[in-house]
Amino acid sequence: MLTSAEPGTPPPLTSPDPVRPRRVRRLLALLATVAVLAPIAWLWWDSTMPSTYSVMDMGTPDLGGGPGDPHMGHSMPGMTRSVDELRDTSTAPAAVAVTLVARKQVFRLPTGEQVDGFTLNGESPGPELRVVQGQTVQVRLVNESVPDGVTLHWHGMDVPNADDGVAGVTQDAVRPGGEFTYRFVAKDAGTYWYHSHQVANPQVQGGLFGGLVVAPRGAPAEPETTALVHHYGSNRTVDGRTGDTAVAAAPGSRMRVRVVNTDNGPMSTWVTGAAFRLVAIDGTDVHGPATVSGQAVTVTAGGRADLDVDVPADGSGARVEMGGDAALIVGATGAPPPHSAKPAVTLDPLSYGTPSPLGFDPARATRNFDYTVGRWPGFVDGQPGVWWTVNGKMWPDVPMFVVSEGDVVRVRIANTSGEVHPMHLHGHHAVVLARDGVAATGSPWWVDTLDVADGATYDVAFVADNPGIWMDHCHNLKHAAEGLVAHLMYTGVSTPYRVGGDAGNDPE
Ligand code: C2O
Ligand code: CU
Repeated sequence: MLTSAEPGTPPPLTSPDPVRPRRVRRLLALLATVAVLAPIAWLWWDSTMPSTYSVMDMGTPDLGGGPGDPHMGHSMPGMTRSVDELRDTSTAPAAVAVTLVARKQVFRLPTGEQVDGFTLNGESPGPELRVVQGQTVQVRLVNESVPDGVTLHWHGMDVPNADDGVAGVTQDAVRPGGEFTYRFVAKDAGTYWYHSHQVANPQVQGGLFGGLVVAPRGAPAEPETTALVHHYGSNRTVDGRTGDTAVAAAPGSRMRVRVVNTDNGPMSTWVTGAAFRLVAIDGTDVHGPATVSGQAVTVTAGGRADLDVDVPADGSGARVEMGGDAALIVGATGAPPPHSAKPAVTLDPLSYGTPSPLGFDPARATRNFDYTVGRWPGFVDGQPGVWWTVNGKMWPDVPMFVVSEGDVVRVRIANTSGEVHPMHLHGHHAVVLARDGVAATGSPWWVDTLDVADGATYDVAFVADNPGIWMDHCHNLKHAAEGLVAHLMYTGVSTPYRVGGDAGNDPE
């Protein structure tokens, strides 16, 4: 029988103080929460970047099995060469001397659409620079009104490091009212382009770029044209024009079309109504290029492909397609050939053309690196997200690839990130040795910008013959701005420039 306790009777002793287990439970829950949150808080805090830093202090030195100072990042004054010393010191007047004035400007596309972007000498694309191999080029860059500052990077040209144009690495961004003079010898013939490397993603998208062609020394000038492909918003343009552009060419002749992809994603080009040869990739001639028809060519973001088009002898013309509604119509005397769909087959440079000597032996590599691009949740500069990783680490904890002048360098570039990445190493050309373990059998395939599809692995090699501190990044400039950036650094080279700071350097 249940009766209520008499007043004054102490409560029966059931269990020890029931408050205590509840407290313990709460404390345990709190500890568990701290155990989960503290590492996250640490990851967040650890990812926040100082307002100014040197790229030499970024990440972890990776010596690739070669000699070097494992405690890089602590610059040793007096013991290193500054990037500023790595420049062309000749004083003779340059064969090609131009001034490019950068402006923030609203301009109109031929369709009438307005672009609130950037120009060089009042136009976008900027003026095409034409040089003969061996000539010295001097470009005076004047920033009239680009608020964030500007630089010019000579994409694919292996220039001396001081003229590489990377804000915060090889120079300070040129502020409004300021100027900077670049000077280099155009030692290799080929198709290149230039663009700003300060706040590069919006500035390049907004029009701060132009074409750069180096004609071979001593060779007779062949009929040629440039096709600089760029999206202004959703408008696809070729050399700043929308729609079809007619290019005059003698029936039965050959026309070299230098296709440049200035966008953030890969594009395809193909020719309707004529056969062609892929005669150069990223500025380097293909050896023994066979005639192609019914195949498309992939042009990597930032990359170039030169097509030598057989202009039909009957005047029917060839349509060089760029994968959108802007095309070049070459040598048509009447109605242009109709548009055709992209061919199902894409040319594979791994087996295209015929072998020729590389000029070095990749089997004698003195440095071996891995550059594996992945994607993982975490923090970059305090921002939560699913971010790109390099060798499992997020920016800025990426590798600093260290080489010495004269090294033969091999890099295994792998991509497990779910998206394509156009990987671009400044200052050097690398040759593709293999893809997914399958050895290259065609012409030496030299690249400065390599389309690495999701799931793909490339083995590339190069000679470290251009001392400096060089970006090695994704040329989807949006990805670069999201931290898909590493550097190649030569021992004994240092930079006085810093990202951030008073100059506001922000290379991506
Ligand atoms: Cu087109 Cu870092 O360059
Ligand atoms: Cu990318």
